[in-house]
Amino acid sequence: MAPSRFSAPANAAVAFSLLAQTARAGLYPGLSTANHTCALVEPVLSCSAGATPDKVDSCCVETYGGLLLQTQFWNTYTGLEAEGQLLPQNSWTIHGLWPDFCNGSYTQYCDLSRQYDPEPSPNTTTGTPAGEPVPPYTGNSIEEFITPFGKYDLLAYMKKFWIGLNQQDWFLWAHEFSKHATCFSTFDVECYGPQYRKNEDLVDFLETTISYFKTLPTWRWLACKGIHPSNQTAYSLSDIQGALTEKYGFLPYVGCSGPKYNTTAAGAGSLDNGGTVLSEMWYYMHVAGRPQDGRAVRVPADINGGRVSNCAKAPGAVWYYERTAGSEWTE
Ligand SMILES: *[C@@H]1O[C@H](CO)[C@@H](O)[C@H](O)[C@H]1NC(C)=O
Ligand SMILES: *[C@@H]1O[C@H](CO)[C@@H](O)[C@H](O)[C@H]1NC(C)=O
Ligand SMILES: *[C@@H]1O[C@H](CO)[C@@H](O)[C@H](O)[C@H]1NC(C)=O
Ligand SMILES: *[C@@H]1O[C@H](CO)[C@@H](O)[C@H](O)[C@H]1NC(C)=O
Ligand SMILES: *[C@@H]1O[C@H](CO)[C@@H](O)[C@H](O)[C@H]1NC(C)=O
Repeated sequence: MAPSRFSAPANAAVAFSLLAQTARAGLYPGLSTANHTCALVEPVLSCSAGATPDKVDSCCVETYGGLLLQTQFWNTYTGLEAEGQLLPQNSWTIHGLWPDFCNGSYTQYCDLSRQYDPEPSPNTTTGTPAGEPVPPYTGNSIEEFITPFGKYDLLAYMKKFWIGLNQQDWFLWAHEFSKHATCFSTFDVECYGPQYRKNEDLVDFLETTISYFKTLPTWRWLACKGIHPSNQTAYSLSDIQGALTEKYGFLPYVGCSGPKYNTTAAGAGSLDNGGTVLSEMWYYMHVAGRPQDGRAVRVPADINGGRVSNCAKAPGAVWYYERTAGSEWTE
């Protein structure tokens, strides 16, 4: 059993034995590098009955982490402004693209031969002492993996929209790749054929993540409904959810950090202990064929009965703060 995003791991020992078999071997040991011509394959929908590795090519249909989440941050500063690490105006920033299991639980760091995360979190594959340790990466910036592909434009976009908080941007990129991308069947190294070029999968993942992010303009969707960052007026979770449900078609997961509502002056005496600072958005989808090909089918965040927000529900309890002066790009 793997961890759910919303509850503690139920059976760490089983999760460990599963991961111990796969962590250094790709998701499907023995997978050939030949014959992954996805144009020849029906783009079966992930999480449908046909999306299993015995029925389809796991390189052409997502058979491992079929519930995709494009996740975004709203941060008001980076902590590295002095080094020129700033936030984009009128836009949320990229967190990642996650492959949850179809039932909403998930696993992580599935291939330790592709471990580039300098600050693994959790620091074992299961998040428990029983898991396999995830050794911190100590090499050079993964920017050096991208430039040999000549994708300076990709790198420039990432430096504008995929921004670390209190850490260099590339730490976040490497974390997202090694923790999450290695748990997609469709980004497995074998899928790239016998002439796989080192880090082709990483560049492909970064690009794919951006392709989804560009279809999900949270800032604009909220602004259309009059929900703008403000340090004067707080909003109601229901209004944020209503705006996004209208634009996305389904309810995304709305994440809040900050003080719990009932520890603030406004919420004193209430039983509402939701977060009061809007900080994350997770858009859920299934995908037909490879995630790289963009055939997403949007689904609601509670498709598995999971919770749809950890924010305070009281009217006017959620702050969507303005960025700190000097933390945004100006151009
Ligand atoms: C969810 O699915 C995964 C992958 O199929 C499985 O390993 C795990 O045990 C399931 N978890 C639950 C709670 O059913
Ligand atoms: C690849 O496909 C060809 C043509 O269908 C087939 O002859 C060959 O056995 C396949 N090879 C592998 C490793 O699956
Ligand atoms: C993981 O982190 C915990 C808490 O900081 C620490 O006690 C443990 O030794 C670490 N484990 C590994 C494998 O690094
Ligand atoms: C806040 O709400 C939680 C859950 O309803 C409750 O358990 C807790 O006692 C409350 N805390 C305060 C300080 O009121
Ligand atoms: C708005 O408030 C947030 C949270 O306190 C703070 O980080 C930010 O700097 C403020 N922005 C402005 C423009 O005052």
